[in-house]
Amino acid sequence: MSIKLRFAVCCLFVLISFCFVLGRVAIGSHGQTPTAPQPTATPTPQSDGFGNVQVLKGVRDLLPTMHFIRASLGVRCDYCHITETGKYYLDDKPAKRRAREMIVMTRQLNQVAFNGRQVITCNTCHRGSPTPISIPQITTNFVNTTRVEPFEPKPPALPSAANILAQYEEATHAGSIGSARLGIEIHRAQLINGGTGQARVLPRAEVMKTDVLADGERGVTTTRLSNGQTAPIGSTGTRVWILGANGVQWITTGDLAQLKRKINPLLVLRVRQSDFSSMDVSGEETISGVDAYIVTAIATDGSTEMLWFSKRDHLLIRRTYFHSTLLGLEPEQYDLSEYKRVGAIRLPMAINASYLDDQHLGVLKRLTAIKLGVAVTENDFEPPTR
Ligand code: HEC
Ligand code: HEC
Repeated sequence: MSIKLRFAVCCLFVLISFCFVLGRVAIGSHGQTPTAPQPTATPTPQSDGFGNVQVLKGVRDLLPTMHFIRASLGVRCDYCHITETGKYYLDDKPAKRRAREMIVMTRQLNQVAFNGRQVITCNTCHRGSPTPISIPQITTNFVNTTRVEPFEPKPPALPSAANILAQYEEATHAGSIGSARLGIEIHRAQLINGGTGQARVLPRAEVMKTDVLADGERGVTTTRLSNGQTAPIGSTGTRVWILGANGVQWITTGDLAQLKRKINPLLVLRVRQSDFSSMDVSGEETISGVDAYIVTAIATDGSTEMLWFSKRDHLLIRRTYFHSTLLGLEPEQYDLSEYKRVGAIRLPMAINASYLDDQHLGVLKRLTAIKLGVAVTENDFEPPTR
């Protein structure tokens, strides 16, 4: 199914289920629409560290959820908040109070129509705008709006995921990357003249150099900071550590898989069928002019991923990992380009990572030196003793 068609089907579903739910809710509560709890007058910090969290309870890191809301509505934090330190708890802005009602409504939709699964999110309706569009477009490209005519070309059948993976492996031999020593340039965006009329974002202003020694999930990166110091980060395969001013710190919470990808960017190229419990070709999309198949996969740990393989040369051009927030999935996207041969293996020289909370500018990693098949020992990935 094409992406457009999937969107259309999805919208239809939302419309139907929304009417259905409104009907149910109206009967259940004697004609009243659902309302959120009233804001408390003088908030005091609660166990989660926030003063006035009434419906998103039990979360310590609220920020990914806030970025999920912000991106879904296509607004900034100040659409709902007085964006000054210590004032985020205030309910002065009507949009914040409305958003709270919407959180309650979205939960009810999922409860009533989707068995509690997180299917409907803010983005299902909002799609980057505070005011969802409820009226369908008049224009369609159909010859006949009632039925498919026999002379119309059928959409081409999609290949199987196994087929796409096999072609990817044949084109890149990514399965045999193994150990590597990498020189990487990290390019980041910088905001200059913030808070003035001349505020500008320079997309690739900041450049840092990193050396990486990696072997799959094991790796060590050493980044030279602008002050001349280095900040080594490593993964032993099962555990992640950082060497800071106070010595070695083991990281036990958060997404270790994401940290491992940050340490060894080549992990993004590893697509092993055994890492997934299901893989389906879910559609087609053109990304930066390249026609691609989309593979939607469920990893063995239950998380969802989407992978885009170019139709022409079978290369992996985008991979998106999804992280759950209280309201929906938050994407972590990698765009891979400038593939080159390194021995028998084809590797992207440019890997751009982007998230909802980085102004869409991403962090570009450029591979400047690559040595494959280097000798490594377990010790190489342990924190240095000093
Ligand atoms: C569309 C509205 C909306 C946007 C945009 C939004 N928020 Fe929120 N935010 C809320 C709502 C609603 C709550 C309260 C949730 C609850 O009651 O459970 C909240 C709560 C918070 C809190 C907790 C405050 C406290 O102590 O009670 C913080 C901090 C916060 N948001 C930060 C942010 C940041 C940072 C951004 C931008 C990245 C942002 N929000 C964008 C609606 C929004
Ligand atoms: C089922 C569809 C649907 C879902 C899901 C949904 N919204 Fe809405 N939302 C709407 C519609 C429609 C409006 C505009 C209604 C109107 O015109 O009064 C709206 C309006 C709003 C507004 C007021 C905008 C303004 O300033 O005029 C906010 C804020 C908002 N939604 C936040 C959210 C958040 C946050 C979520 C996710 C927790 C969410 N919505 C989920 C349909 C939806």
